[in-house]
Amino acid sequence: MKKVALITGITGQDGSYLTELLIKKNYKVHGIIRRSSSINTKRLDHLFNNKNFRNKKLFLHYGDLTDSISTSNIISKVRPNEIYNLAAQSHVKVSFETPMYTADLDALGTLRILEAVKNLKLKTKIYNASTSELYGDNKAKIMSEETKFSPVSPYGIAKLYAFEIVRCYRNAYNIFASNGILFNHESPRRGETFVTRKITLGLSNYIKQGKYFELGNLSAKRDWGHARDYVWGMWKILQLKKPLDLVLSTGKTYSVEYFLTSCLKYLKIKFKKKIINKQIHFIDLKNNKIICKTNNKYLRPNEVPYLKGSSLLARKTINWKPKTNFNLLVKEMIDSDLK
Ligand code: NAP
Ligand code: GDD
Repeated sequence: MKKVALITGITGQDGSYLTELLIKKNYKVHGIIRRSSSINTKRLDHLFNNKNFRNKKLFLHYGDLTDSISTSNIISKVRPNEIYNLAAQSHVKVSFETPMYTADLDALGTLRILEAVKNLKLKTKIYNASTSELYGDNKAKIMSEETKFSPVSPYGIAKLYAFEIVRCYRNAYNIFASNGILFNHESPRRGETFVTRKITLGLSNYIKQGKYFELGNLSAKRDWGHARDYVWGMWKILQLKKPLDLVLSTGKTYSVEYFLTSCLKYLKIKFKKKIINKQIHFIDLKNNKIICKTNNKYLRPNEVPYLKGSSLLARKTINWKPKTNFNLLVKEMIDSDLK
């Protein structure tokens, strides 16, 4: 019998790569989508518009994770073998502006799924999208499953609740539920307001139209991998015999400025840095035009300055390691945005 998966957040970056992977693995994939005034399924269209997949392998249901009734109705109808809970208000800066909504969705959304599975007495395995944001301002040089959480944003704090409620339901009700503590992962499908995509899209607009773009904190460091590798890890986590919380990361960390200058290097754009009115400007040496500059409006009330993860346990238990390195990620994102 074909396995049935339900993905919340199927229209997002990870949801689309995971759908591709599960369809390849011969799953029937169900996804929850939100009604919106403009089309929000563009990352899935290549699958949904394929007549071999639509309503044969891929099924979409309207719902919302802030709505207990629709969440539980869909789970009851689909009765999935596996749930991948990826739905979230996933933007850290936006969580400072919408803290209540972020808590309702990112924290209580996970609880709604767990409650539905418990009440329906299903044997469903649940993957919960947890995050390296949980480490917050912890000063550890490298973070693992043992490192203390210290979140500093409404997003990180909502995700901490989700992490703990997964462990609680696992222990209290014997539900198979695992947290993947994923470090940043990017791709050409990354949302356009996350920093890597802002840079690759900003540079492609600069090349095509000569327009500059603006960034916030250039010194923050992140452990960036490719989303395709990370959704493969999510699937592997649910194939374990017992639930386990695992870190997925590359073990390398680079600053935002390094990501920007790596893109400039790949594009063979020579530049100089200049401080004007306390803002850093990156100036094209060929024509003296501004490519990019900083603007304080992109700074956050609280920042996570440094993230670097150890996924040794994932290597041991699920034989997972990322396949795409930093330079390949930069190349793939730039090439795609230039097209
Ligand atoms: P994303 O691109 O922002 O996708 C978020 C998904 O959640 C979208 O499908 C979105 O639907 C959906 N969603 C938003 N509000 C919803 C609601 N009220 N009800 C149902 N669905 C809703 O995020 P991502 O990068 O794919 O990340 C996937 C998950 O992993 C998220 O939980 C994120 O917090 C977590 N995570 C991401 C990273 C990373 O680096 N990417 C790292 C660690 C953890 P719309 O398309 O309609 O907006
Ligand atoms: N978004 C954004 N926009 N970030 C900027 C900018 C800008 O213009 N300029 C500098 N940054 C800095 C941020 O301050 C942060 O330190 C870093 O770039 C990365 O920001 P994001 O790309 O927005 O990602 P994030 O690390 O805050 O959150 C992502 O990764 C988490 C895992 O650690 C999201 O995908 C979260 O959902 C995920 O949990």
